Amino acid sequence: MKVLGIETSCDETALALIEVENGAETKFKTLGTVIHSQIEEHKPFGGVMPILAKREHARNLVPLLNSLLEKTNLKQEKTVEISDEQKAKIEEILSRENDLVQVFLKFISTVSKPDIDMLAVTSGPGLEPALWVGISFAKALSYVWNVPLIPTNHMEGHIVSVLKEGQNLRNFAFPAVALLISGGHTELVLVKNWGDYQLLGQTRDDAVGEAFDKVARLLGLPYPGGPQISKLARIARDENLKNEEIKLPRPMLHSKDFDFSFAGLKTSVLYLTDDLRKENELDDNTQKIIAREFEDAVTEVLFKKTKLALEECGAGTLIIGGGVIANTTIRNKFAELEKDGITVLIPEMSATTDNALMIAIAGYMKSLRIVPMICPDIKAEGNLGLS
Ligand code: KG4
Ligand code: ZN
Repeated sequence: MKVLGIETSCDETALALIEVENGAETKFKTLGTVIHSQIEEHKPFGGVMPILAKREHARNLVPLLNSLLEKTNLKQEKTVEISDEQKAKIEEILSRENDLVQVFLKFISTVSKPDIDMLAVTSGPGLEPALWVGISFAKALSYVWNVPLIPTNHMEGHIVSVLKEGQNLRNFAFPAVALLISGGHTELVLVKNWGDYQLLGQTRDDAVGEAFDKVARLLGLPYPGGPQISKLARIARDENLKNEEIKLPRPMLHSKDFDFSFAGLKTSVLYLTDDLRKENELDDNTQKIIAREFEDAVTEVLFKKTKLALEECGAGTLIIGGGVIANTTIRNKFAELEKDGITVLIPEMSATTDNALMIAIAGYMKSLRIVPMICPDIKAEGNLGLS
């Protein structure tokens, strides 16, 4: 069975095609992935602009689908008659996406239906204008190609991003705890089974990736700030730069729940950088020391809460997903849990940021629980939860 995943929840437009074998074992193989990152477009604004993201997704989806079909040898050029009735229906499905209608109609009238058995699209959480583009595009494809479509949760995508090609998906050591750390989320989730999730705790204010981005901005670094902060922090470590006076708080480190809070940490950096600027002391080395101290503070809080969640839930497996797990310090710290007998599953670097492979996998797993339909009524849900 071939599943096409479609992801447009934030600033990456991504498509991926997997082939799933569902016999004695359930395993997948990646047939192809394509992605267009909008980071350069959003950089001048210091963050993701929803309307710009929507326009860019609409511009890139058809060219990306074309290149994915070419890459996977599934593209067959052929003149396909689109009846007036079909055209009207496609226009209705794509009524929110003016930029997409004409390119879409042109494309589907020149290629025959590829050998694809199911579509999976992110329906939330994310930026609603961005989500709608992917949903409308997926629905239009489902309609013209008569292929069932399943709405997929982006955060479930980050959970399954740790799964590997060829691994038997039925043979997973539940229960697991998932730590989801991205630009929009910081959550600890108990994973009882695929599709059976319980939220243990989450951030009460800023997400951890958002905190990285805001602190980077305070230091005058470009968006996205996570990689910038981690670059400076690494130099501070390698060069053993020190300043005993630079100390940041570890918010909620000792609270007995699984919630987080990063807004105060960011504010502490704001006061610190303001004071240092006044004294003309915010030099390059001091910036690096702040970056390292911030990274250490975040890592310590994430680590302590997650360890507690693993213990309280009696879970032997830890899953970590989301863009922030690209951070080497955080990766290395969590790998230490292996010594305690915990299986630590961290996605490969290429699977840490938003991608469609994780959506294809999550969509397939969901289709084992819920029957997908042709052109279903899917709505974008910006705040869609996991449980
Ligand atoms: O999962 P993701 O690609 O998109 C969302 O769903 O939000 O996560 C993006 C976030 C951004 O805030 C970015 O700064 C952060 O992940 N990030 C990092 C690193 N690389 C990306 N944060 C810390 N260290 C990194 N190396
Ligand atoms: Zn994400």
